[in-house]
This record gives sequence, C-alpha cells and structure tokens, in this order.
Amino acid sequence: MQATARAQPNIALVKYWGKRDTVRNLPAVGSISITLHDLYTQMQVEFDASLDADRLTVNGEQDDGMLPRISHCLDLVAGPQRERASVTSTCNFPVAAGLASSASAFAATACAAAAAAGIETSTSELANLAGRASGSAARSLYGGFAELKNAGDAVEVETIEDPAAWPLRVVIAITKAGPKAVSSGEAMERSRKTSPFYARWVEEQPADLDEARAAIASRDFERLAAIAEHNCLKMHSVMWASRPPIVYWNSATLDCMSAVRELRARGHAVFFTIDAGPQVKAVCLPQAEAAVIEALRGTAGVETIMTSGLGDGAAVVSVT
Ligand code: DP6
Repeated sequence: MQATARAQPNIALVKYWGKRDTVRNLPAVGSISITLHDLYTQMQVEFDASLDADRLTVNGEQDDGMLPRISHCLDLVAGPQRERASVTSTCNFPVAAGLASSASAFAATACAAAAAAGIETSTSELANLAGRASGSAARSLYGGFAELKNAGDAVEVETIEDPAAWPLRVVIAITKAGPKAVSSGEAMERSRKTSPFYARWVEEQPADLDEARAAIASRDFERLAAIAEHNCLKMHSVMWASRPPIVYWNSATLDCMSAVRELRARGHAVFFTIDAGPQVKAVCLPQAEAAVIEALRGTAGVETIMTSGLGDGAAVVSVT
C-alpha cells in the first residue's frame, strides 16, 4: 500500500526548548505555534515486502542522514515488524536550516505511514507519534494557532484559533541556507545540562503561554509581539549561556531583528521570531507585509525571502 500526505511547517511564538523525557521525546515545556500555508513537505510512503531496507529520497536525492529518524517514525506508527518502506519526500523550502522542516516532515510521515499501513488513528494519536520523532512535529498535525500541552505520558495539542480567525502573515528572511551545525535535539540537551538559565526558562513558561494565549484571544498584536520576542530572546539566552555556547545567529540575523524593530517603531505591526537557525521569521498583519518584505529584502546578508499565510494541519493527499 502506498499513501501520500502533506504537512506545513509551524513557527513557534512561545517556544519548545528542552526535553522532560529523552526516550519518549516529551517536551519540558508547553508551546504555541502558527501553522503555515505556503511552505510544505509532501511524503509518499510505500510499504514493500520485497525491500530488505528502508529507502529515503528528499527532493530526488537519496538521503541516508535523515533515514534512521524516518525509519523510527515508521516503526512507531506501523510497528517494528512492518514491511520495509520506500519513502519519497518533496519539500519546497530549505531543509534543516531552522525552518522547521523536521516538523512538517515527521507530521507528513506519520500521516502517510498510518494511511499506507491501513491503520485508523486519531489526529491526537498521530500528533503523539510524530512528536516522538520530533517534538515540534506534533503541532503540524493542527492548523492555525496550535497549543501543545504536556499531559503526563503524552502531549496534547489543540487548535486554539483557526487560520482564518486572525490571518497573520509570515515573512521569512533566509540569511544562510544549509544544515545547522548542532541539531536542536542535541542543543536542547546541552542547554538542560549546562545552562544556568535553563531552570528559570522552564519555570517561566506557563506565564508566557498564558500571556500569548490572552493576546491571541483578544487579537492584541502589540501584546503578542512583546511576549513572542521576549520568549524567543529568552530561549536564545539559554542557548548562549550553555557550555559550549550554542549561537545560531549570524550578523544578518541581527540586522533583520533591528529592521523589524525599526518598522515597529514606525507603526508597522510586525515582530520577529528565530528558531534553531539563523533565519528570521517576521510575523505581521497583512497591511504591514509589503513594508516588511521591502525592509528585509534590503537588509545585507539576506539571501531569499519567503512569505506565507496561516494554514491547516497535515492531511493525507492520496492512498493507492
Ligand atoms: C527552536 O522539534 O526540532 O524550533 O524534538 O529534538 O526534534 P526535537 O526538536 P525540534 O525543536 C524545535 C525547537 C524550536 C522551537 C519550537 O519549534 O518550538
């Protein structure tokens, strides 16, 4: 059986950083994200009894680096006794550069694998399976504004607002495409073990989540901007104070942050957020988008600009 599913990456406004349980990959903190619309990863999974090993191609090239994590995700969904699989991934944005490509990849893989194996599963079960492969992937099963909560041995994700309820725009400035030096999973563990700020980060997260939830519910852009930038900078401060330090930014990252803050000072509704990479995601109201694109395009070191609205969660595209 063969199935194809598509998932969009999500961008966290209140970040997941740190693991409570590394074996089950359970996050130490809750998080709130927005699922994108225009960027996607499509995964085709075909179980085939004649294969003696799994295979993975990403955008037409064999990818043995990512294969063990994809195989593990297939095991979680279809069981370790499953037939081997041929997996074909197509992604319309740079992979492993801090653009949450693993979130969309594992969300789509979990969906496609369940459909290809003929397994009936709920979105919540798929989110837990995808989350075991990559914590942020659990959120890409859901559209719009999604909140991930820690609930004992599992994660619980829900859409807190649909994409159309507050149609924000996201302008992504790619300052350096290409894989990152330290994976987010490894960096999180280093932060947990060595950063003097880690415990405080975990302790303050519930208050940040409350603040972001209230800002979203009241469509208060200024309030959301303040908490999202604070939470992002706090996460990066935890990383910077780790030993050895984890610094994902480059000089263009800093220049983009300044450009966004200058725009906001001039009255444009925009804020930045940055994940485990040097790219800057500027989240704005539709009326600010043109000015945001112009400012980031004119910032030295910006290689490419991508834009997106908010979209839906992962879905099966076809089963044959
Ligand atoms: C900075 O989901 O990539 O993007 O669970 O180890 O695969 P693993 O981590 P991952 O971490 C994402 C971290 C982040 C913040 C976020 O998306 O919440």
